[in-house]
Amino acid sequence: MSTVQIMKDTKVASKIRNKDLAPQGKLKLDWVQAHMPLLNEVKQQFEKSQPFKGLKIAICLHLEAKTGYLAQVVQAGGADVVVCGSNPLSTQDDVVAALVDSGITAYAWHNTTDEEYHELINDTLDFEPDAIIDDGGDLVKILHSQRPEQAKTIIGGCEETTTGIHRLKALEKDGLLEFPMMAVNDAYCKYLFDNRYGTGQSVWDGINRTTNLVASGKTVVVIGYGWCGKGVAMRAKGLGAKVVVTEIDAIKALEAHMDGFDVMPMEKAASLGDVFITVTGNRDVISSRHFDKMKDGAVMCNGGHFDIEINKIELGEKAATQRTVRNNIEEYRMADGRNLFLIAGGRLVNLAAGDGHPVEVMDLTFALQALSLQHVVENKGSLPAKVLSVPEELDQYVANLRLKTLGITIDQLTSDQEAYLNSWA
Ligand SMILES: NC(=O)c1ccc[n+]([C@@H]2O[C@H](COP(=O)([O-])OP(=O)(O)OC[C@H]3O[C@@H](n4cnc5c(N)ncnc54)[C@H](O)[C@@H]3O)[C@@H](O)[C@H]2O)c1
Repeated sequence: MSTVQIMKDTKVASKIRNKDLAPQGKLKLDWVQAHMPLLNEVKQQFEKSQPFKGLKIAICLHLEAKTGYLAQVVQAGGADVVVCGSNPLSTQDDVVAALVDSGITAYAWHNTTDEEYHELINDTLDFEPDAIIDDGGDLVKILHSQRPEQAKTIIGGCEETTTGIHRLKALEKDGLLEFPMMAVNDAYCKYLFDNRYGTGQSVWDGINRTTNLVASGKTVVVIGYGWCGKGVAMRAKGLGAKVVVTEIDAIKALEAHMDGFDVMPMEKAASLGDVFITVTGNRDVISSRHFDKMKDGAVMCNGGHFDIEINKIELGEKAATQRTVRNNIEEYRMADGRNLFLIAGGRLVNLAAGDGHPVEVMDLTFALQALSLQHVVENKGSLPAKVLSVPEELDQYVANLRLKTLGITIDQLTSDQEAYLNSWA
């Protein structure tokens, strides 16, 4: 791996792939900025109010143009910003170079080894941030497991995704969480749009651009019918696929049935699917016993946060041979001659083999992120060290702002209606 050390005026050295990629990354940042009116509005507010003045903020996200622009918005609020990737495959080297060019410190490059990935998170924490934005919980985990003294100094932060919230809640339950974390993922303006419509569209974008195969007429098995699964199944149906859903939760399974999908256990679905998409946030939801039943040519990919949903260790052990047949596609030839294909090494397909969610969807999410971070630092010392909900008014504010940018107006309650809704008589 060829890293480039860039010395900066701040005496901090970024570690990135290639600083010469900055002009290309800047074009990507310009494109998203032109399509993120909410973040533009928040940036203008931050430039005036400087909520992060004098603070160091660490951001651990999938580093592509939209997250890059979020980092620049936080910087516009007065922060000294450091970024690192939240996944070894999702970092875009040109965007990172452009961020460094704009005065942000970065420890990130595309396709790190697991060892490098953790080393870069540690470099980010050496920056001694006052507050953090995390995606999936790795920054928080390393702070609590390897840097407990530093964890006590953090004002607080925000978590982006479902898996990160699970890990934070486990830390809180064990009485170990050292600082307040806003569950941005659990805000309406996040999961209703980002997890559902964002993942729904971008997972298919990743699959389509990587495989160049048709979805129409195929049997697509969606494993997990949570917010992401609902979006992925909805878009599969729209592409003309026959959709099968597997679940472990009776209510979600019933919902999938009422939405018109075939629901069955994975043991049965394994032999039917042409394409398998995991979106559970759980481990080993496709494993050895399923590989045995799959059709020749079955394609598997994952939209969940970690690359543990498809047990690729067992897949590798079962394979007689293994080879890369196309960029981001690994072929596993079983002893009986069947070929099974895995996209992007089982890492989240929309980011590892695509550009992630559509820009306008992330505009909502990142407006919430930026405003939630502001809430955390402005309430320094008064928030409990717990997983906290994004205040309802922030959610409503972001939804209203989005409607405004879309030119959509809505009705207002009359005073009589408001009184009626608030009365018991
Ligand atoms: N790819 C992306 O850009 C992106 C975006 C948002 C969230 N995520 C990640 O996607 C994952 C899912 O997020 P979500 O918001 O949909 O979560 P969710 O909790 O709403 O849904 C997960 C669903 O999976 C089901 N499930 C769990 N174990 C299962 C099993 N063994 N078999 C079948 N179903 C099972 C659960 O019952 C639940 O309904 C998380 O890891 C999250 O962090 C990824």
